[in-house]
Amino acid sequence: MEQNKEKMKEAAAAAAVDALVKSGMKLGLGTGSTAIHAIRRAGELIAQGVLCDISAFATSFQAEIECEKLGIPIYPLNSREFSGGLDLTIDGADEVDPQNRLIKGGGGALLIEKLAAYNSALFAITVDKSKIVPHLGTGFPVPVEVIPEARVSVTKALEKIGASVILREALRKAGPVITEHGNIILDIRFSAPVDPALMEAELNHIPGVVENGFFSGKKPVVYIAHSDGTVEVRAI
Ligand code: A5P
Repeated sequence: MEQNKEKMKEAAAAAAVDALVKSGMKLGLGTGSTAIHAIRRAGELIAQGVLCDISAFATSFQAEIECEKLGIPIYPLNSREFSGGLDLTIDGADEVDPQNRLIKGGGGALLIEKLAAYNSALFAITVDKSKIVPHLGTGFPVPVEVIPEARVSVTKALEKIGASVILREALRKAGPVITEHGNIILDIRFSAPVDPALMEAELNHIPGVVENGFFSGKKPVVYIAHSDGTVEVRAI
């Protein structure tokens, strides 16, 4: 039977939580319309007493508010509870390439999402099959989080390396999106595929860039929901 996209997101998230989350874990919780299903599934298992002693790190206000609603205890990454490290982070993605490299940040939370992912022993990504692409950089725009003072200089530097650049505009607020860390987002695209690892490093070398949405340094296990209701697990 064909499943709609929301059901697919829910299926991928539930599969990852059911397979990977164990009692006592320090758990990074991602952001977006797929990751929220993982938070809800974890909350459900905690409420049922199937999981206990979970401490969570929320990657955004969205994740934090959902954890509060569900009674999932959250702590700062700097807290003694975590000492900067997590057992597992579960998140969504905007695009996944054949080597499980990602574009993330469609929801603007890339900075803290990368902090969680790169500081987790295990990283899991949950997506519906529409997020699986042959290469990164030419389809879904790569978000680049930039300090406001560097908007023009970074735009010029990005154009110099061949990217087209769009300042992310807010909805229901005049002007640009301001991230949870007071920065702006430049969404960029390339006319041809790029090497995600090289580009991830190159973008972060531009003065004024805080972080970018290529995730190539931490390989996730990817849970891919298909329209027939099955969930494929892809680890590389
Ligand atoms: C949030 O900043 C993002 O990285 C999301 O994880 C990503 O945009 C996927 O979101 P959806 O699951 O809503 O498509």
